[in-house]
Amino acid sequence: MTANDNYGDDHDHGHGHGHGTHDHDGHYVGNFDEAAKTWDDDPSKVERARKVAQLIVEALNPGPDTEVFEYGSGTGLVSEALAPFVGTITLSDPSEGMRSAIANKITRGTLPSTSRIWTTDLDSEPAPPETFDLVVAVQVLHHVGDLNKVLNSFATLTKAGAHLAICDLEAEDGSFHGEGFGGHHGFHRSELAEHLRSAGFARVSFEHAYDIERDGRSYPLFLAIATR
Ligand SMILES: C[S@@+](CC[C@H](N)C(=O)[O-])C[C@H]1O[C@@H](n2cnc3c(N)ncnc32)[C@H](O)[C@@H]1O
Repeated sequence: MTANDNYGDDHDHGHGHGHGTHDHDGHYVGNFDEAAKTWDDDPSKVERARKVAQLIVEALNPGPDTEVFEYGSGTGLVSEALAPFVGTITLSDPSEGMRSAIANKITRGTLPSTSRIWTTDLDSEPAPPETFDLVVAVQVLHHVGDLNKVLNSFATLTKAGAHLAICDLEAEDGSFHGEGFGGHHGFHRSELAEHLRSAGFARVSFEHAYDIERDGRSYPLFLAIATR
């Protein structure tokens, strides 16, 4: 299987890699645009989103005043699962296909009518001048180019004393996305914690969140919660 065959099952590629289309900033979004059409048909993606949302709710006990920003939200599965427990949600994704899926969910009532959609790509633009009580990024950090820049923007977007929740791959050998992927091969917890502290987060805790089973291998995901 070539790397480009894999986008539909989280073998998706970050911007600047692979052979798909690029947006006006040169970002690689083509495969995600295509993947958006069937993203929610994969029960494991739905299950993963629910599990991660459940862990976030258990860890942080949010309420109706908790304003959420979900970065790289895809079709909004994690926000959907968070919605009953939080206030207004702002979902952001550089893929037009993903944003269109979100818009459809807002129209149908699958996501709250108060939800907002942003196009923000923190790799190439500064963080919008707003702050949130909870910033969430699930399976997106391994796709960003400039890790420190994006983490600094997360810090800007997070209110003092509020939280950032990152779910991503534990460090792996590159087999998760396969040949040609130019993003991060997961993250070592201690290294990511150091990057988060440098970005201005005071406390960082990790727990195991989910395992993605593929080709006879298991790829564990962590949930990191950092306090601004
Ligand atoms: C593996 S999907 C995860 C989607 C969703 N968070 C979920 O858990 O179902 C990665 C998402 O990140 C988006 N993405 C890719 N590169 C990005 C970047 N540099 N900044 C923000 N989002 C990005 C993609 O368009 C895609 O929707």
